[in-house]
Amino acid sequence: MIAEGRDSKRKRDKASARKVVRIRPGTKTVVLGVTGSIAAYKSSELASLLVKQGHEVFVVMTRDATEFISPLTLQTLSKNPVTTSFFDEKESWRPGHIELADRANLLLIAPATAHIIAELAHGLADHPLAAIALATRAPILLAPAMNGKMWEHPATVDNVEKLKARGAEFIGPEEGMLACGYEGVGRLWKVNDIAFRAEFLLARQDNLIA
Ligand SMILES: Cc1cc2nc3c(=O)[nH]c(=O)nc-3n(C[C@H](O)[C@H](O)[C@H](O)COP(=O)(O)O)c2cc1C
Repeated sequence: MIAEGRDSKRKRDKASARKVVRIRPGTKTVVLGVTGSIAAYKSSELASLLVKQGHEVFVVMTRDATEFISPLTLQTLSKNPVTTSFFDEKESWRPGHIELADRANLLLIAPATAHIIAELAHGLADHPLAAIALATRAPILLAPAMNGKMWEHPATVDNVEKLKARGAEFIGPEEGMLACGYEGVGRLWKVNDIAFRAEFLLARQDNLIA
């Protein structure tokens, strides 16, 4: 083995100091918000993908989301308890939704209804998901799904603009055949791509200019 000279080692150290390095990649906490859209069943695949990507996933559902997919399904796939109401938070003295808000590295809402987008734009907080969105300082990624006319309505357009101006990121919706029978923009973006975008936002937190 050839011993490395002190000069070449110093040069190598200096060069690598300017590189973008990834420190301690690994487990992050993703709060996955699920709302009352026909696309809610796709959140099960999303939860699985995020778990496979090595993250802790905590699902928070609106009351209407539970009409579309069972909390039990999402609890099993996420391997964590699912929050559906402020009043099932009895684990500790600290409100569970605040603990999740503090712990989150990413708040991903998929699918996001017109209703949750309006609630977030107006800072409402009458259920755990909306309260977490107010309390967290983690990045927020929304994947909307709705009827195309709802998506294009000036009220929704305004709400989306407000949230973007505050730093929230949107992925989709895409154009296609919608469950409501119309064709247009409103379909949930491909689940694989949502998971990929989530991964990018999480990995960005590991990248430092050294
Ligand atoms: C079958 C069915 C499908 C629906 N799909 C959507 C949808 O894709 N997007 C949406 O914004 N609203 C949809 N809605 C309406 C929402 O469920 C409704 O606005 C609800 O209040 C949303 O509440 P949440 O955002 O608190 O979950 C649907 C309603 C029904 C009955």
